[in-house]
Amino acid sequence: MWLATCGVGILVTVTVPAKRYFVHESAYVDEPCEIGDGTKIWHFTHVMRDAKIGANCSIGQNCVIAPRVVIGNGVKIQNNVSVYEGVVLKDDVFCGPSMVFTNVTTPRSGTPRNRPEDYATTLVLHGATLGANCTIVCGHTIGEYGFVGAGAVVTADVPAYAMVYGNPARVHGFACECGLRMEFLSTSYACECGRAFERTTSGTVRRTTRAGTPTATE
Ligand SMILES: CC(C)(COP(=O)(O)OP(=O)(O)OC[C@H]1O[C@@H](n2cnc3c(N)ncnc32)[C@H](O)[C@@H]1OP(=O)(O)O)[C@@H](O)C(=O)NCCC(=O)NCCS
Ligand SMILES: [Zn+2]
Repeated sequence: MWLATCGVGILVTVTVPAKRYFVHESAYVDEPCEIGDGTKIWHFTHVMRDAKIGANCSIGQNCVIAPRVVIGNGVKIQNNVSVYEGVVLKDDVFCGPSMVFTNVTTPRSGTPRNRPEDYATTLVLHGATLGANCTIVCGHTIGEYGFVGAGAVVTADVPAYAMVYGNPARVHGFACECGLRMEFLSTSYACECGRAFERTTSGTVRRTTRAGTPTATE
């Protein structure tokens, strides 16, 4: 709360709501933007105007969140990641250190493509992991709980639960919501974390136990 005098003898009380998120003193947060409760923004990071960041996120050191980027709740962005306009991160996405998003498919210095309509959308769905130092070529969707290995170059959509790596990234298996690799010896798989999955005849994987963290009785 702070007090301001406004002309002779008039005292105005202005209540400034306490911030319910943390921004390190070395970070820049441009206005307006939205930052949810419990989110932490660390050293030398720049959040640009009209960005929307959900609750309980962690944005590491030396990151950039570009204008109009939308980030869900519980997202973890490790050091040295730039989230460019056109990138959408849903809840609980993990961006490993120094991974790279792109937003222009055919960049040229002499032919600027820097308007919103020039940007291809990259959609990273709920719970997906993008490993350290991977590159996501823009215009693709990383499916729910998709797992991109360290150093991969993603040039196509990643199916839900698929584990991809290499350059170009290829599907090498599937990962549970807890991160462990799933070995499908039949059409079903039960992870040690308690979650169970089935592999359909079309090759997709879906969860067969109810959503959320499993309990001992599930
Ligand atoms: C993708 C990943 C989860 C696979 O782990 P895993 O299931 O234990 O796989 P393995 O180590 O048994 O490797 C299996 C094979 O895949 C290869 N491989 C594994 N990860 C790879 C990757 N990221 N890129 C290329 N090849 C990879 C291995 O060399 C091995 O090949 P081989 O059978 O010819 O020897 C892991 O390697 C990875 O990249 N994790 C991400 C780590 C990260 O970025 N963390 C960020 C926060 S610190
Ligand atoms: Zn599991």
